[in-house]
Order: sequence, then structure tokens, then C-alpha cells
Amino acid sequence: MGIMAGEKTIMNLIDRYAVFGLPIKHSKSPRIHQLFAEQTGQTLEYSSAEVAPEQFAAAAEMFFSHGGKGLNCTVPLKELAWRYADHTTERAQLSKAVNTLALQADGTTLGDNTDGIGLVTDLISNHSIALSGIRILIMGAGGASRGIIAPILEQSPQTLVVANRTVDKAVKLADEFHNKGAITGCGFDDLGNRQFDLILNATSASLSGCLPPLPSGVLAENGSCYDLAYGNEPTAFVRWGLENHAAKSLDGLGMLVEQAAEAFFIWRGVRPLTQPVIELLNSERQARS
Ligand code: ATR
Repeated sequence: MGIMAGEKTIMNLIDRYAVFGLPIKHSKSPRIHQLFAEQTGQTLEYSSAEVAPEQFAAAAEMFFSHGGKGLNCTVPLKELAWRYADHTTERAQLSKAVNTLALQADGTTLGDNTDGIGLVTDLISNHSIALSGIRILIMGAGGASRGIIAPILEQSPQTLVVANRTVDKAVKLADEFHNKGAITGCGFDDLGNRQFDLILNATSASLSGCLPPLPSGVLAENGSCYDLAYGNEPTAFVRWGLENHAAKSLDGLGMLVEQAAEAFFIWRGVRPLTQPVIELLNSERQARS
């Protein structure tokens, strides 16, 4: 009995974090946070749990009431996490999605969204793609797009166009952000002869190997492509970028690590180095393919 009580005390001394999602089996988040913890000398535990949308509120409640300190939420739970949080940051409110929940000293939860800043940091710091003054196209007008628009507009691009299969959604989404910068929404057919210096794929099409219908010549000379999705193999859009002579054609592995670093900073107050973790994950997937 005494030993068990002692073990429980030690367990509670280790701060616990987790990622919830569906599916969750292939999530790299536990690995990334473990690497951050080792690198910064922080003692913590980070696990993953498969949680269906209808279980989310109860599972989060259980996690926090049993001493959990912070949660990452991924597909399809980000909007539910936004509704669940007691308080939300401005960037979470704008994206109507939360990927990071942090337990506060008063027992309430703060919801933040670090996806957009993760993307922008990866583009600017890791790939030297400056966003100010350039022409940017985002493909897709779902949750993933919504999460990245405000941080991109903060960089003052020349134009930001959101193109979507369902045109109405792109127009409505762009309207929501029109007071934050030069943004318009349209359908893929409406792109005409326009050219962009950076094309971001925020559709879920890439995951199933499909590509939105992009007009030829849409990528400007020396332009780059970025797929928010990532995989062990190049995604369909990364391949499209390479075939269309993109200066850089990248997937979202760097964004994943950068959004995790932001979450780690929110929870621990320490900023881990991302470059060694990105390099390690990249070399591991190269070894696998
Ligand atoms: P997420 O949270 O990943 O953004 P979502 O909110 O369901 O998921 O949005 C998915 C996005 O991918 C939408 O913009 C969707 O287009 P529609 O709004 O027209 O549905 C886009 N998408 C999914 N499959 C696609 C495909 N095969 N071709 C083009 N766009 C696709």
C-alpha cells in the first residue's frame, strides 16, 4: 500500500501532456515533444490517445481532472477543442480552432492555435521564403486554411488569394479576414492567368493523392510550393511543384515541428531548437523510403 501511494506521488510529480486525435497511431507529436524535453532538460511525459469527436469533452475533462497539464488536439478535434477551452487567444478565435490546450494556475484551460505561426516560422526561418510583398495562393477553404490566414496576412503579402472547389466557401472565408489585409476568395477556374510566388495546399485532397485543378503557369518563375500535409513519400502536391519547376517544393513536416515548439513554449516557458528535430525526422523518413 505504502509503495503504491509513493509511486502515485512520483507519477504526479511528472507533468503529463498528450495528443488527442482520430486517427492518432502515426502521430509524430509524442516523439517530437520527447526530443524537445531531452534537448531542454525538461521532465515530462507525452502520450497519444485515439479520441472520437463524441468522446472529446469527456476525455479532456478526465485528462485535466487527473493532473494533465496540456493537450494537443489534431484532426478532427480542433474545432471541438476551441469550444471546450475556457479562454482562447486571439489567434485561436480567428481560426475557430484550437490545437493546444494549457491548464492555467486557476484550473481553467487556455486554448491556442499554433498551426499558423508554425507554418510562417517554417517558411521564413527554415526555408528563407519571405512573405512580405509576394503573391500567395492558398488552395482550400476548410479548417486548415482558416488557421493560417491571419498569421500570413500579418506578414503583409502583396496579395492573398484563397481558391476552393466550393467557391462560396472561399469567398466567405476571405470576407471574414478582409480587414486584416489584401485577401480575396474564388474558384480554381477563376484563377485565369494569374501567377503566384507561393502556393500553399491546404486541401485535404493531397492525403488521398488527389490534386485540386490548377491552371498551368499559375506558379511564377522562382515560385515555391508548400503542402500543409506531410508523409513518408512526397505528397501529390509536392510532386506537382517539382514537375512545375518550383524553386522549393516542401511538405508540412517543418510546420508540424514548429507548431509543436510553440506549444512546448506555451506549456514549459522554454523554446526548444527545432532544426535538429526536423533534421532527425527528415533523415528517418529518408531511411524508410
Ligand atoms: P481541413 O480541416 O483539413 O481543412 P475541411 O475543413 O474538411 O478539412 O476542408 C477540406 C478542404 O479540402 C476543403 O477546402 C475542400 O474543398 P470543399 O470546400 O469544396 O469541400 C478541400 N478538398 C477536399 N477534397 C478535395 C478535392 N478532391 N479537390 C479539391 N478540393 C478538395
